Amino acid sequence: MSQDTTHSTPAPAAAGQAAMPGADGPAFNLIRPQPYADWAPQVDAATAAGLRQQLEQGAVLYFPNLHFRFEPGEERFLDSRWSDGKSKNINLRASDHAVRGAQGGEQDLKDLYRLIRRYAESSEKLVLSLFPEYGPHLVRAGTSLRPSEIAGRPVSWRKDDTRLHVDAFPSNPLLGQRLLRVFHNIDPQAPRVWRVGEPFGDFARRFVPQTKGMWPGQARLMELLHITKRRRSEYDHRMLQLHDLAKADLAYQANVPQQEFQFPPGATWMVFSDQVLHAAMRGRAMMEQTYYLSPKAIGDHTHSPEAVLSRMLGRPMLAS
Ligand SMILES: [Fe+2]
Repeated sequence: MSQDTTHSTPAPAAAGQAAMPGADGPAFNLIRPQPYADWAPQVDAATAAGLRQQLEQGAVLYFPNLHFRFEPGEERFLDSRWSDGKSKNINLRASDHAVRGAQGGEQDLKDLYRLIRRYAESSEKLVLSLFPEYGPHLVRAGTSLRPSEIAGRPVSWRKDDTRLHVDAFPSNPLLGQRLLRVFHNIDPQAPRVWRVGEPFGDFARRFVPQTKGMWPGQARLMELLHITKRRRSEYDHRMLQLHDLAKADLAYQANVPQQEFQFPPGATWMVFSDQVLHAAMRGRAMMEQTYYLSPKAIGDHTHSPEAVLSRMLGRPMLAS
C-alpha cells in the first residue's frame, strides 16, 4: 500500500456540468437523470428493471425534481453550529431515537431527530418503490445531515473525500454487503459538486495488482483487539487498499477518465458508493441515507466489486 502522506490538493476538475477533464480517456457520462418528483413514484416494471440495471452497472441515478421539503423552522439546521465539532456529520442510526454528533437544546435535538428520521423514511420509500425486490435484502444503516462546507476542510489524505474513491471502512467490515446511498442537496443556493470516475472494473485492473491479502491470523487479531467490529474478510481488506491507493495517487486523481457534475439545490441522487468512484468537491449542506444490501439482491453481478475482485484474483472473495 502506498504511504504517500502528502496533504496537497488534487488537480482541480474542469468546471461545468458533465465536463471531461481526463487527459486522454474517452468521454463518458454516468449521470442518469430521472423525471420523478415523488418519493414513492409509480414506475412500471420494465422501467424499474432498466433503472436497476443501470444502478447495478455503476450509474448515478439522478432525480433533479425530487425535493425534500423542510417543515417550518427546520431551515435553522442549515448551519454548522449544530455540529458538536467532533463528528463531521450529525447522524442517526436506524435503531436510535436520538441523533449523534449534534449540540443544541432539548427541543432542537428533538427537531433534528424528526428531520433526519423523515429523510430516512422518504429515501426508503424511494428505494422500495423503484426496487421492491431489494426490500427483503435491504438494511437501513445511518442517516446523516452534513451541514458544513466540504471544500477547504483540513483532513488527512486518507479521509479526504475530495479525492476519488470507493467507500470502504477500516473498522466496519461489510463482508460483501453492498453500500447503497441516497444523497440530497439540501442547501437552497449552492450546488453539490461531485467528480465521478472510471468504471470499477477499469479502476480494479489498475490497482488490484498492488493490493495484498491478509497474513494468517490477521483478521482474528484485529477483531480481538477491537480494531474491527467483526472479522474482516479478504474482500474488505482488498477494498480498503483500493480506497487508499486511489486517494494516495495524485497522478491518478488528475488523469483518470472522470466527469464533474453539479447537483443543484433540491436534487436527489442514488449510487452504489462501494462501486462508483466518487469525490465530493464542494457543497454546503446535504442529507444522506446509507443502506446495506445483501449481494443476493443484485441482479447483474458483472460489475459488482465482489465479482470483479473474485474474477481478478481467481477465487471467491467472500469465502470464509
Ligand atoms: Fe465516499
